[in-house]
Amino acid sequence: MKSLYLRDSEETQKIGYKIGALIPKGSLVLLSGTLGTGKSTLCQGIAKGLGHTVQISSPSFTLLNTYTQKHAKAVLNHLDFYNIENLEHLERIGIYDVLEAEDNVCLIEWWEKFPEVTQGLPALKLQLKLEGEGRRLDWVDELNLSQEIFAERI
Ligand SMILES: Nc1ncnc2c1ncn2[C@@H]1O[C@H](COP(=O)(O)OP(=O)(O)O)[C@@H](O)[C@H]1O
Ligand SMILES: [Mg+2]
Repeated sequence: MKSLYLRDSEETQKIGYKIGALIPKGSLVLLSGTLGTGKSTLCQGIAKGLGHTVQISSPSFTLLNTYTQKHAKAVLNHLDFYNIENLEHLERIGIYDVLEAEDNVCLIEWWEKFPEVTQGLPALKLQLKLEGEGRRLDWVDELNLSQEIFAERI
């Protein structure tokens, strides 16, 4: 696992932007970290990097937000499993269609609540923790993007 220190939310957005700009269509990004560690901030950066100019909102209550802006590189599906009760609930919101779609980038917050759903799918796994005034980002890059994305300081 590799790691990076993010001093403020601007740095979280910037690393997100780099991820969004470089990640190919069809990619899966799994985010973990307790409440307030910056998962949604990172997702906002990823959305911008993909070319979505709208401000994205947290899917904590909507569970799945889909963005289909014309000039963006890919459709963006943003999910949050925090308020999902069981696998049936996930099936009802169409999780398997989202995971199979090739024209989208899929971001899942709190994915570790139902690890069986994404098991075996290669993903960029991002984990955030509070550290001092900022955040620690640890990642596992099963998509082999890290050299480009994380090569230099943000
Ligand atoms: N690297 C950082 N350092 C300090 N604060 C940050 C950092 N990244 C994000 N934040 C702040 O943390 C708060 C919670 O962020 P949010 O993205 O809503 O977290 P989560 O989705 O994990 O609950 C926001 O006020 C955000 O601006
Ligand atoms: Mg959030």
